[in-house]
Amino acid sequence: MTIQAVRLIGPGVDRVDGPMKVTGTAPYPADFGFPEMAHAALVRATVAAGRIRGLETAAAEGAPGVLAVITHRNAPHLNRGPDTPVWRQPPPPLQDDRILHYGQYIAVVVAETEQQATAAARLVEVDYEQAEPLLELDDPRAEIVTNPWGMDSHRGDVAAGLASADITVDATYTTPDETNNPMGLFATVASWDGDSLTVHDSTQWPHGVRAALAGTFGVPESGIRVLAPFVGGGFGAALRTWPHVLLTVLAARTTRRPVKLVLTRPEMFTGVGHRTRTVQHITLGADRGGRLTVLDHEAKNSIAIEDDNYEPVAADSAWAYACPNVDVRDTQARLNIPVPTSMRAPGQAQGNFALESALDELAYAVGVDPLEIRLRNYAEDQPQLNLPWSSKALRDCFEQGAGRFGWSARDPRPGSMRDGDWLVGYGMAGVSFFWFQPACQARASVRADGTAFVRSSATDIGTGTYTVMTQLSAELLGLRLDQIQFGLGDTDLPFGGLEGGSGLTAGLGTAVRAACRGVIQAFLDTVADDPGSPLRGCRLDDVSAADGYLVRSDDPARRQAYSGILATHGLNELTADGDSAPPAPEEVGMAPAGAFAARFAEVRVDPDLGLVRVARLVSAVDAGRVLNQKTATSQVIGGTVGGIGMALLEETVTDPVSGRITNGNFADYLVPVNADVPDHEVLFVGEPDRFNPIGVKGVGEIGLVGMAAAIANAVFHATGRRVRSLPITLDQLL
Ligand code: MOS
Repeated sequence: MTIQAVRLIGPGVDRVDGPMKVTGTAPYPADFGFPEMAHAALVRATVAAGRIRGLETAAAEGAPGVLAVITHRNAPHLNRGPDTPVWRQPPPPLQDDRILHYGQYIAVVVAETEQQATAAARLVEVDYEQAEPLLELDDPRAEIVTNPWGMDSHRGDVAAGLASADITVDATYTTPDETNNPMGLFATVASWDGDSLTVHDSTQWPHGVRAALAGTFGVPESGIRVLAPFVGGGFGAALRTWPHVLLTVLAARTTRRPVKLVLTRPEMFTGVGHRTRTVQHITLGADRGGRLTVLDHEAKNSIAIEDDNYEPVAADSAWAYACPNVDVRDTQARLNIPVPTSMRAPGQAQGNFALESALDELAYAVGVDPLEIRLRNYAEDQPQLNLPWSSKALRDCFEQGAGRFGWSARDPRPGSMRDGDWLVGYGMAGVSFFWFQPACQARASVRADGTAFVRSSATDIGTGTYTVMTQLSAELLGLRLDQIQFGLGDTDLPFGGLEGGSGLTAGLGTAVRAACRGVIQAFLDTVADDPGSPLRGCRLDDVSAADGYLVRSDDPARRQAYSGILATHGLNELTADGDSAPPAPEEVGMAPAGAFAARFAEVRVDPDLGLVRVARLVSAVDAGRVLNQKTATSQVIGGTVGGIGMALLEETVTDPVSGRITNGNFADYLVPVNADVPDHEVLFVGEPDRFNPIGVKGVGEIGLVGMAAAIANAVFHATGRRVRSLPITLDQLL
């Protein structure tokens, strides 16, 4: 039984949860409550390093409605939560008097109402013994961490390659701290009943939260239920179990009341991660034809004083293009900064900006078209693993994207194209996105009324999981969309992997496919010895599913309805489990392909004012099989808006003396608004991928990647000014 890609897969199916969202009936974590619920508010450190010398809590404790003020002085010991495959939990809060970063929680105040908690939190007085914080990547006092995942890589001989290169490019690129900033303020609602715990949380991984809570509080996972049926965006910020989640659960245990905590927007800048700043040095060597002989990429970014958020920035440059002599390496400096985390395309968003800018510089140094230089260095096989790709249509992305954009009309000379007073620039970038696929489990039941319930604990953070999993289940079971109930966001359901790394559709989809095949097998088993069944003796590959029936492929007139089989055998439903675990590349003899893309941008630059306007965008994306054109296009557009922000607007500013985040709000942290986002044509190219049986790659992050380089390259083409430091602000163009 294969996916025919004919019926429910592919076209732009509307979001199945759309009506709930637009009518305000979709429950987000902050919408949940319990009887007798209390509310929490946080007190944050206003310095970045030092110790708490004095702490005055009496005024807060005596304020109206206050139930508890928990600080390091009265908090119980909390374990540091378990390691996950991806990272360790951040250190638990309120364990000692040390201040490691601005915004660190130093107290949680619990009161009858949110207003009372917030007012009382302001009454907590702190006296600090300040230390000089480590805030700069090049601070010689900072500990330097090398990535423990073995992602630095080398091949060939860089020194020898450089000695014989005809042309070299040598440049340093920098990117700033940026903050994920999902619209939905993160919320946690916690309720204990004896030793069992129910938590609503803004998370991309309910099972991850459950494991962290069990480890931190020393209670069994089986007693904890974490729910997240709807999450107001994540972009990586909701991958980890943050200190505020632990504090809400602690507050509920301390006060023996259910407790709700909703973060404020300023708290979202210091408490739920951010993208780390980078300094990147790239050396390219090439022959006269622009064929790379050397690619050397060294990157440094930041990590918190006590955390393990390893962010490889240069690593993926090793396999983006064919090149015989390669060296990529990453280091991180430990600083007194809020704990960073993954932010949409972590590491690669920054690394791609440097690599794709450097390739543009090389194109000009060689004197060939920027598109042509990428084609001349095309990696036909995965150059690091030396294996064929599971699929790769990047060449089609380049060619079809260029065609739609009208790249051939580009006059290569910088500053040569104008529209009235505006300078016009065309820029482009390639993207080879990394691959990740979490292991997942799913369960499928087909019920007596012919409908199905398919479920897993994974989340839909706005990406469309509900919708594409409904489509997939309906396609596989031969049912209509409205006959599928897809359940997610609940740890009482089978284990769902994290919604991250652009991998959930592949990982969960593969598990859903296995569960759906399993339930069809259960029906075939049920009729295996039934002389009255036209399906008697059929194997899975002998049947297809359509219109609520299992149909013999050799004789489509012979079929039997799910409901008929259940009724005949006196059953209410049949259920099966499925799981997915990606194979090792060597095992299957191919390199799993993340998605690929070519991004094309037209910008207008006002030469007198330095204003940059993005005028037009074309993105060609190879995402393997596209399950839903509409939600996939939305994903790419949404990522692109983030990419425009990265290119032109976004920067989290840290006061270099105090370590305070100076623009931690939506008035001062600039993100693109509608007027900043032009027409954007998204086209999907390529074939179903071979690495998973549903043929998908991932579109969650790739929309962000490449945009910064494409825009910077377009700005160079418009002005002749090479901006190597993001965001591109007008002062750099005057
Ligand atoms: Mo994404 S940064 O893996 O949520």
